[in-house]
Amino acid sequence: MGHVFVTRRPFGDGLERLARAGHTIDVWPEAAPPPRAALLERAQQANALICMLSESIDAAFLDANPQLTVIANYAVGLDNIDLHAAAARGVAVGHTPDVLTDATADLAFALLLAAARRIPQSAQAVEQGRWGAWQPDGFLGADLVGATLGIVGAGRIGEAVARRAAGFDMRILTTTSHGGTPLPELLAQSDFVSLHVPLTARTRHLIDARALRRMKPTAILVNTARGPVVDTQALTQALHAGTIAGAALDVTDPEPLPPDHPLLRAPNVLVVPHVGSATPRTRAAMTDRCVENVLAGLAGAPLPYPAPAP
Ligand code: 8YV
Repeated sequence: MGHVFVTRRPFGDGLERLARAGHTIDVWPEAAPPPRAALLERAQQANALICMLSESIDAAFLDANPQLTVIANYAVGLDNIDLHAAAARGVAVGHTPDVLTDATADLAFALLLAAARRIPQSAQAVEQGRWGAWQPDGFLGADLVGATLGIVGAGRIGEAVARRAAGFDMRILTTTSHGGTPLPELLAQSDFVSLHVPLTARTRHLIDARALRRMKPTAILVNTARGPVVDTQALTQALHAGTIAGAALDVTDPEPLPPDHPLLRAPNVLVVPHVGSATPRTRAAMTDRCVENVLAGLAGAPLPYPAPAP
């Protein structure tokens, strides 16, 4: 029977299936992630690991834990795991595709709408007692109908965002690693740019100072992918300089973003704390996928939701 170390209690009661199958489970009890030393120590007792995006599963971790046979990431993104190192050591890696597509696409659209219609600024005005007389030009925002949405990365989530945008009668451009509208052209034409690429060496700082300069001064950047896809310093400068009109971010670099971070002092920036998949149904389904990956891995069977080949 297996021993599973889980680096935070996942949402729902999915872990019970592991116990019913006879496996023992060790759940990190704190809300904060286990520090590296604790992660190494607790994992050493385990032959399966369920981890979060906050744990760096690198070659050193894998070398310190040769007894691990399966790692189930509680996320679809896999940038916290060195997939080459895992493959080289014969460790099976799984993730949670599909079940968080709609929740994440909903959040991308919520951020887009909130930034377009200046919802944080206008709600703050009400809370702060600045709801003055109704003005014909008060809190004017951006129209969606007829506006161009540039979707960078047309995988599962990018396509789900495109479906939502079609319902708002937006014009849609997409770029992928192997086609679509070239990124410079997409950036130049779009009124909204929404990022949906995985974080890899190729996409790190994909949106840098040069990319931001290509965007319209009226454009809004939405990021629900990974923080480092955007060069944070370049984005902060671009918002101050008015190179673009605003940014709405579920992910940042670093994460969590300290409250005194310069990005939060930039104009027209809206930041939420990485909540793309944060609905009960989605988070419970992510737990189930992790459990199914672990059950298969411990049985020596192929994982039902394996990480893509590196
Ligand atoms: C997760 C995510 O909530 O799945 C992903 O890649 O970014 C989010 O859905 C997060 O990674 C928690 O581990």
